[in-house]
Amino acid sequence: MKVVVCKNYEEMSVAAAKIIEEQINSKPESVMGFATGSTPVGMYTELAKDCSAGKVDFSKITAFNLDEYYPIAHSDENSYVYFMKENLFSKVNVDYSKTNIPDGEAKDAVAECEQYEKKIEKAGGIDLQILGIGKNGHIGFNEPDAKLYANTHLTSLTQSTIDANARFFESASLVPTKALTMGMATIMKAKKIVVLASGKDKKAAVSALLDDRITTDFPVSMLKMHSDVTLVCDEAAYMDL
Ligand code: PGA
Repeated sequence: MKVVVCKNYEEMSVAAAKIIEEQINSKPESVMGFATGSTPVGMYTELAKDCSAGKVDFSKITAFNLDEYYPIAHSDENSYVYFMKENLFSKVNVDYSKTNIPDGEAKDAVAECEQYEKKIEKAGGIDLQILGIGKNGHIGFNEPDAKLYANTHLTSLTQSTIDANARFFESASLVPTKALTMGMATIMKAKKIVVLASGKDKKAAVSALLDDRITTDFPVSMLKMHSDVTLVCDEAAYMDL
């Protein structure tokens, strides 16, 4: 695993954006896997800046997001449809018809997950998947559990994730309790994976990624079985490990 330790959040964001730009510049029709949450926001800002400056061209990429709350309206400010539009898609020259996010408005969640998985396959698989990590070691919404799911599925959020995400809602009781998420195999099939982590809250999860054990208690630890993973983190997430 490649590990890039940056001084702070800003440097982490620049370093991660550079990796994405290298990917898109070397293969303009890349299939990109995007993530939401606070961690990638700075990276998306860098990408928008560099796209405006003509350093990167999103027009030919296809995008698949990791997950979405369920159920949730696309227009809801907490939906990941809204997040991606606000933070990246409205600021770069992406072709909206080639952006994909699990549908929080789908009537049949199971059918939506099956279709999502097939769409990724049909696009040729993900070239580069960006991941944040939950404090509890989740990736996407693959929460710590005795058994993890392989494919895109409907899942229940753990209390730890509901509490962590409550900051975006008026109260924790308003955080959706379910989500649609790529599964562990969906993520592991990506050709390259870039994991972002910032701040001391992520230390335990980063440590579970870097030690020599694999456990479903920290789903992120399973990335050790992938041959092309880069961790880009800041010193606060890495220090004293
Ligand atoms: P965060 O979330 O970037 O908001 O910390 C990461 C995650 O839950 O995957």
